[in-house]
Amino acid sequence: MKALILIGGFGTRLRPITYSVPKQLIPLAGKPMLFHVLDLVPSDIEEVVLATGYKADVIDAFLREHPPSMPVRTVPEAEPLGTGGGMRNAGDGMSDPFFLLNSDVIARVDLREMARQHAAHGGVGTMGLVEVEDTRPYGVAALDPDERIREFVEKPEPKDAPSHWINAGFAVWNREVIDRVPPGRAVSFEREVLPGLLDHGVYGYRISSYFDDAGTPERLLRAQRLLFDDHRGGKGTLPIGAFGKGPVALMAGAKATGASFGPYVTLGPGVVVEPGAHVENSILMDEVHVARDATVSGSILGPKVRVGSSHRLVNQVLGEGVEA
Ligand code: GDD
Ligand code: MG
Repeated sequence: MKALILIGGFGTRLRPITYSVPKQLIPLAGKPMLFHVLDLVPSDIEEVVLATGYKADVIDAFLREHPPSMPVRTVPEAEPLGTGGGMRNAGDGMSDPFFLLNSDVIARVDLREMARQHAAHGGVGTMGLVEVEDTRPYGVAALDPDERIREFVEKPEPKDAPSHWINAGFAVWNREVIDRVPPGRAVSFEREVLPGLLDHGVYGYRISSYFDDAGTPERLLRAQRLLFDDHRGGKGTLPIGAFGKGPVALMAGAKATGASFGPYVTLGPGVVVEPGAHVENSILMDEVHVARDATVSGSILGPKVRVGSSHRLVNQVLGEGVEA
């Protein structure tokens, strides 16, 4: 099978960081969001096609420098085509069936098992569903007792949500689905195409693991905490010569001797945290510099941000190169 991963969104809710870096390259627990999604793809996948758009060149450059362990090809859009348009634009030569994955969601999902269930049920598609309290940011599905999806509504008002089971952003579709996307314009797959597929048989695949869509600063930091807890069983590792409480993920060349930490921190490549500074529940991207005795908490700092000595940053999202 092949996989198609949608990666062309603007990441508007993560501005100003996403003015220079696409959200899928923001590191969570020591690894870019996109690579956490690639970890879910079965290792014998024939090819992964990334439907890129916004910042496609930045993604291409990153993949050249950090080639994934599986064959990956990118297909950029000249202008944003939406989730359906992106599928259509990048869908030439897709396998039948294929995996369709969003690139900003984290969960522990067995895609092979999902494909097996798809083959067993028949129908045109099988969608991974997860149960959440607040359905507002999501597409919501109502299921029949045989797990067939009877109704699907994208981002309904809470009073109109037919259940608490939402589209987790992992699915298996038959190739014919791509042909049902109107060509040549932007199309929301979830709003314009999916409801019309239900008559042809779309089944739910319930996922019981943790789940998060890392589309906002709060949810991005929550996603990082979930990933740390999943990968390290809650164990806290600290950089050599640092104090406090981990986990802290140290990427290539990051240094933090004499600094102190609270849990859940990623220090991106080349980050320096000087002695006496304290960092907790945060993501510091490439080459961020935190000077002596500064504090960074609940924050996401874009590349090359500089935090002055004794400065306190709490719940901030700062774009590339900002001096705080
Ligand atoms: N190629 C391409 N072109 N990709 C796009 C475009 C586009 O124009 N717009 C968005 N994407 C990508 C995003 O990068 C993301 O990986 C995925 O498509 C979904 O877009 P989001 O903008 O993150 O959508 P959402 O989070 O509001 O809703 C979607 O995900 C939810 C689960 O997190 C929907 O699929 C919902 O139904 C679902 O519940
Ligand atoms: Mg999203």
